[in-house]
Amino acid sequence: MRVSIHELRKMKVNKEKILALTAYDYPTAKIVDACGVPVILVGDSLGMVVLGHESTIPVTLDDMLHHCQAVARGAKRAIIVGDMPFGTYHTDAKQALGNAIRLVQEGGVTAVKLEGGLVVREQVERIVAAGIPVMGHIGLTPQYVHQLGGYKVQGKTRSAAERLMADALALEEAGCFAIVLECIPSTLAREVSAALSIPTIGIGAGPYCDGQIQVLGDILGLSDYVPKHAKQYVKLPEIIKQAVTLYAQEVAQGTFPPEA
Ligand code: KIV
Repeated sequence: MRVSIHELRKMKVNKEKILALTAYDYPTAKIVDACGVPVILVGDSLGMVVLGHESTIPVTLDDMLHHCQAVARGAKRAIIVGDMPFGTYHTDAKQALGNAIRLVQEGGVTAVKLEGGLVVREQVERIVAAGIPVMGHIGLTPQYVHQLGGYKVQGKTRSAAERLMADALALEEAGCFAIVLECIPSTLAREVSAALSIPTIGIGAGPYCDGQIQVLGDILGLSDYVPKHAKQYVKLPEIIKQAVTLYAQEVAQGTFPPEA
């Protein structure tokens, strides 16, 4: 049985931390799902982590559909959240709903995520009204990188913190089932988490969120740039290099493949 958004709410009530990770393809989705991670995000970080772009801006809906389909084939238990890429929901609620439907119907995801607070309120309401669960995303919103002037911590001044709190409350009221808080002070993340009845999922927002999300490539050591908030649990490139080197040696020596 797939995890439901209601179980996440129960986890918040029971003070059980919610674990979330990104995945972008069939094999990693299968592994992450087998580990029992309840939320898998097919993030538009895909652009940087997998496609080699400099930001998430070039990621298209077709890119997302392609990768959501692969993740959906691999993950049978987790809630799969598909990111709505830049430019696919800002025009109006109708555009947002049309593209959210494509992610669910063609991409096979359970829910969608979009960036922004009050500004996307109508879009969230319209998508939720169609029966599609929506995850919000506020704080450092990478699709706004040019306006933010880089990947900087948000909500540091009193007025910025008040705006962020208003955004969080608006997203909850609009029907989001959870909200990602990215790169904000941990004290603010604690206040927002306490003010909301839906779970907050933090990344670079300290330990007081109801759950945590990381980019899979960051924890595996695959990303070119590792953000300060990430922890490398393994250096996968070194393991891959060892295997490739061994394979190359054995082919050169004639010990692989064996005659049989
Ligand atoms: O695209 C992504 O991976 C994300 C996470 C960083 C939350 O939005």
